[in-house]
Amino acid sequence: CGGKEAAKEPAQEPAKQEAAAKTKLVVGADATFAPFEFTDPATGKYTGFDVELIEAICEEAGYELDFRSMGFDGLIAALQTNQIDAVISGMTITEERQKVVDFSEPYYKSGLVVAVQAKNNDIKSFEDLKGKKIAVQSGTTGALHAEKATDKDKITYFTSSDQAMLELKNGAVDAVVMDYPVTAYFIQQGNDDVKMVGEILSAEEYGIAVPKGKTETLEKINAALKTLKENGKYAEIYKKWFGE
Ligand code: ARG
Repeated sequence: CGGKEAAKEPAQEPAKQEAAAKTKLVVGADATFAPFEFTDPATGKYTGFDVELIEAICEEAGYELDFRSMGFDGLIAALQTNQIDAVISGMTITEERQKVVDFSEPYYKSGLVVAVQAKNNDIKSFEDLKGKKIAVQSGTTGALHAEKATDKDKITYFTSSDQAMLELKNGAVDAVVMDYPVTAYFIQQGNDDVKMVGEILSAEEYGIAVPKGKTETLEKINAALKTLKENGKYAEIYKKWFGE
């Protein structure tokens, strides 16, 4: 029957067909997490490794990207209530989170580190944090680790990771527990009054999260990620943000 109908109506141009078929993918992130997602001060646009990766994934999978920034501690709830379709936010794949959302294949290996003021000679490792004041970002694995290191009333929780770092620079807290690549980038951006101490605390992997049971979205994201790893695009984006 398709043949008869095609004869009556002129065939659509392939380009138009493609445009009409594009589904929107609403992606949430907390864009205070350079170099993964942040606002480029020069252009005012969102940029970073995660931003470029999700752009490439959407292009590959045929999605139209709608990127939205919101507080990190609200991202999982936004997925659960279907306000957003996916999260790419330097989000570590954890067993706790896997109970409530589904994750893509891992796309970045990370870990946590302790940051202190450069002039601090007192704190040399995670173990030295006992009784110290720590700033963290709410809802993060860094916050969970800080809670193991010191009493909860010594911890200050911030919505954005920038604020936690500023609190350390201002000397209002003794330390920050945060993702290693973000801390290293922050120091490298001219904040040499901050240093990292001790070992990298935990081996973590970042994944793209989707609401539980959204297998079609997840499969498309995983397939696109695989293609980008095979065709060199992932390596290109990685190199741009992290070097070799
Ligand atoms: N990797 C840590 C976690 O999953 C921190 C992520 C924070 N991300 C952000 N965009 N602020 O808990």
